[in-house]
Amino acid sequence: MTDGPRLIERAFPLKQASLDSVHEKNVRHGHISTLHIWPARRPLAAARAALIAALLPDPGTPEGRKRLIEKIGGVVVKKIEKKKIGDRTVEVEREETVGGVLHWGREASPDLEWFRQEIRKAWGGRAPRVLDPFAGGGAIPLEAMRLGCEVTAIDINPVAWFILKCTLEYPQRLAGQHRPLPGFALESVEFMEDFFKGTGKLTKKQMERNLQVVQRNLLPPPDVDLAWHVRAWGWWVLERAKVDLERFYPTVDGKPTVAYLWARTVACKNCRAPIPLLKTRWLCKKDNKRVLLTMEANADRTGVVFGVQSAVPVAGGNPAQRREHDRRLGQGTMSRNGAWCPCCGKPGTVAMKLEDIRQEGLAGRLGAVMTAVVVAGERAKEYRLPTPADIRAAADAGKEIERVFAEIPFGLPTEPTPKGGSGASRAFSVDGYGIDQWYKLFTPRQLFALGTFCRSIREARRAMDTSGYPQEWIESLQAYLAIALDRVADRSSSLCRPDPTPTQSGIINTFSRFALPMNWDYIESVPVEASSGGLPGAVEWISKVLDQSRGMIGSPEARVMKSSVLSGFGDQVDLVLTDPPYYDAIPYSDLMDFFYVWLRRTLHGLSEEIDAAFGDRLGPKWDSGASDGELIDDSSRFDDDRVASRLAYEEGMYRAFKECGSVLADTGRLVVVFAHKNPDAWQRLMSALIRAGFVVDASWPIQTEMGNRTRAFASSALSSSVWLVCRKRLQTARPGWDTGVLEEMRENVHTRLRDFWDAGIRGPDFVWAATGPALEAYSKHPVVKKANESGQVMDVSEFLRAVRRMVVDFVVGRVLSGNGDGATVSGLDDVTTYYLLHRHDFGMEEAPAGACILYAMSCGLSDRDLADDYDVLVRTGGTGAEEEDEERELEEAKAVDEESGEGTGSKFKLRPWAYRARKSLGYDAEGRPAPMIDQVHRLMHLWKAGDVARVDEYLDARGLRRSVLFHHLLQALIELAEPRSDERGLLESLSNHVAARGATPEDKQIPIAAES
Ligand SMILES: C[S@@+](CC[C@H](N)C(=O)[O-])C[C@H]1O[C@@H](n2cnc3c(N)ncnc32)[C@H](O)[C@@H]1O
Repeated sequence: MTDGPRLIERAFPLKQASLDSVHEKNVRHGHISTLHIWPARRPLAAARAALIAALLPDPGTPEGRKRLIEKIGGVVVKKIEKKKIGDRTVEVEREETVGGVLHWGREASPDLEWFRQEIRKAWGGRAPRVLDPFAGGGAIPLEAMRLGCEVTAIDINPVAWFILKCTLEYPQRLAGQHRPLPGFALESVEFMEDFFKGTGKLTKKQMERNLQVVQRNLLPPPDVDLAWHVRAWGWWVLERAKVDLERFYPTVDGKPTVAYLWARTVACKNCRAPIPLLKTRWLCKKDNKRVLLTMEANADRTGVVFGVQSAVPVAGGNPAQRREHDRRLGQGTMSRNGAWCPCCGKPGTVAMKLEDIRQEGLAGRLGAVMTAVVVAGERAKEYRLPTPADIRAAADAGKEIERVFAEIPFGLPTEPTPKGGSGASRAFSVDGYGIDQWYKLFTPRQLFALGTFCRSIREARRAMDTSGYPQEWIESLQAYLAIALDRVADRSSSLCRPDPTPTQSGIINTFSRFALPMNWDYIESVPVEASSGGLPGAVEWISKVLDQSRGMIGSPEARVMKSSVLSGFGDQVDLVLTDPPYYDAIPYSDLMDFFYVWLRRTLHGLSEEIDAAFGDRLGPKWDSGASDGELIDDSSRFDDDRVASRLAYEEGMYRAFKECGSVLADTGRLVVVFAHKNPDAWQRLMSALIRAGFVVDASWPIQTEMGNRTRAFASSALSSSVWLVCRKRLQTARPGWDTGVLEEMRENVHTRLRDFWDAGIRGPDFVWAATGPALEAYSKHPVVKKANESGQVMDVSEFLRAVRRMVVDFVVGRVLSGNGDGATVSGLDDVTTYYLLHRHDFGMEEAPAGACILYAMSCGLSDRDLADDYDVLVRTGGTGAEEEDEERELEEAKAVDEESGEGTGSKFKLRPWAYRARKSLGYDAEGRPAPMIDQVHRLMHLWKAGDVARVDEYLDARGLRRSVLFHHLLQALIELAEPRSDERGLLESLSNHVAARGATPEDKQIPIAAES
């Protein structure tokens, strides 16, 4: 491969990669995300697109690029779909891709083989070497393998390393190998029925014949692949565990138990009665099924009596009233402030403040009460009160814990849970309530069940050996069974919440978001059952991923390493494509210790490598002495010194990129994925890249989340990750001068902006897409000096300010010129520029904070300036009524948002003109000229009041009649306003008035520069 530009440096299937990434989030069976939880996984579609585009050369012509882009991503088509929104059915326009290799399922298309060949050809007939030093759950290395590359995947975390082995190494190593199904599987009619169903469509007769053939040993046992052996040994473990477990999940009235519902309890400070801590009393709230847990104080007010009310009637005339009625009806005992006591208080009062509950938790005095039992009725789930047998069984299981853990290496998981704090550790609050060791996160029965599975999996190891399985098979099978246990643990902790609008499972798992917040009421599944949360389901999910990985046959072997990126990597590579942690977004190691403690116990003794990886009590954090460890911004690791923590993260990133540079071939490329709502974080990341010797030359914002507004895609409101493309800077590169660098940047970027605009890239994505190409002029110099300030350098933030300003001026030029001639506008003030950008992209609706901050910065402002000083923005917090509960809980939990670093969803809206009525609106204040949007809004108020004389007076005083910008702005605002709205009517009559009073603009000095 020559050093010529790569496709990714010129063009990218941005829309296709975004659409298919979003779609992938809904894929269930077979996706690697369903193998094992790992936070912040990148979509496979995005990784595949980036790899292909980084490994293939730029075809050099617009036609060639278009062809290649369509070969990768296909074409985007529009579809109309019917969607139910509340009581209405609406038609929604949806876009999707046709063709290409990015969409889930198309990875097996023949076109992928074409890409494998093209990539090999481009690399002189050999497989390119690809490195991902922050590999996590393995999306990037998996796709690189699929494309025929030689892959090295590194992660510091033992859980990630183990997942990587299960995703990349074992399936590849055993791909194409078959072994006979073990005897115990053949003997089980139930298992063999599943087997025949899973391997072909059979009539009842054929099924019976097949079963007879197998049971009478008329034919040798079928040879099957890894996936079926996992199913078989999963079955073995289940049958073994059931012997010990089943009696602790009694069936009452012939209806099998699906789950138990519990509430934590605390003794009331006033009357000492145990208060059940309930967030809601709705057991099920669906349109066709409404079941409520009733609760009243017992006769002597020493406790409560529960009941189950089915078919709860709907009340209220409109949806808002119905919602409010249901909210009141289902109110639990918990509020934001604490709990009320059903024995001595009433709803709205607080008997136990949150702090009181916390203190009781720390003293080990929180209890638990079973509130209801979910059972499998004839046709659907039913709810009943617990019987004494249910309560006794739960208590009895606790007596078995000591016995089972005595047979497991390292015994009960007594390792400490993470401490809550600020920054990354805001994700944790359980230790503040006394859950300070991992085992305390589970009910006694959950612990007993997990211990029993763990012991059975370990016993299976000996049985596999006796059955003649080779060591590499035993290791792989054990690994997948250990993953099955992790999946069960995720659905079997006391942080699992009941889903009041259950679709299938009725269980919201522990890691439904990447935090460990305290909860009050929880659901306990029956882990031997196939329903959600059970081992059979877990084994099936895993086997489906393995079914999907059959295509690994012939892929080069991947190298999986557990190591810190800061410790160096060894061999030279052609491409580094990686997705590092984002400041304080996710505390990987602390969170994943949840699984670490189980893996350590289940896998112990399997191999020296595994024992070494899980040798410590918990996963690695930060080693201050060695300045090495997990690279996240978590001040609790730096004695709560926020500055030291941030600096260690930034310095660590710089060192990581430097290490990447040292193994990257001179013609190689580094692609870094980054997602953070704060543009400041970006600037620091880019500085680190430049300092480490890279030239940034492209950047592509790929969406991975779809907003619920139909406009979200068009306005690109939710870009969640930006893929930055870099090449190594020449050793001979010399310092540059700011004037020359800015001029070169303008020249380079102008045509690219038009390309991006014509390609339909809009909104914040437009800013991000332009950032990479613009940075090339700057970053190709090791340092950029200021021509007019001796000894001063232009830092990256100063440069980016100039870039962003140019980009927003371009967009505003399009807005002001009605999207037409592409005029660039200069001279429009910052606030009005922001207003137009925001209005153009989001209208008067809510906009995500990340986008607003980026736009504000691009205009030289901050979101705070716009909200507090200029009164242009309003913070909305982004909650609709139905989201309120969830949002409140999020707040209480101080949870972190998955992958985007978008925080807890703060949002902004433009303040409607009618509410912008400050006295000083439209007047210069303290030497600060009034933004032109304020002047327009002042005029609108005057016009609405019918005060034509004052309108004229104001127009003249500010010289607006002669201002070309003012005329363009009025026109743009008319077009942006809703047709037939009050606002539009006012603007139109104002515009007519200005025109009628002989106001042809005379002063052509106010510049609207023609595009060069
Ligand atoms: C954003 S995640 C990668 C996610 C991955 N791309 C995926 O799709 O699953 C960042 C990863 O960096 C790892 N990490 C943090 N510090 C590290 C270090 N010093 N060396 C290597 N890996 C590190 C974390 O364990 C985490 O898995």
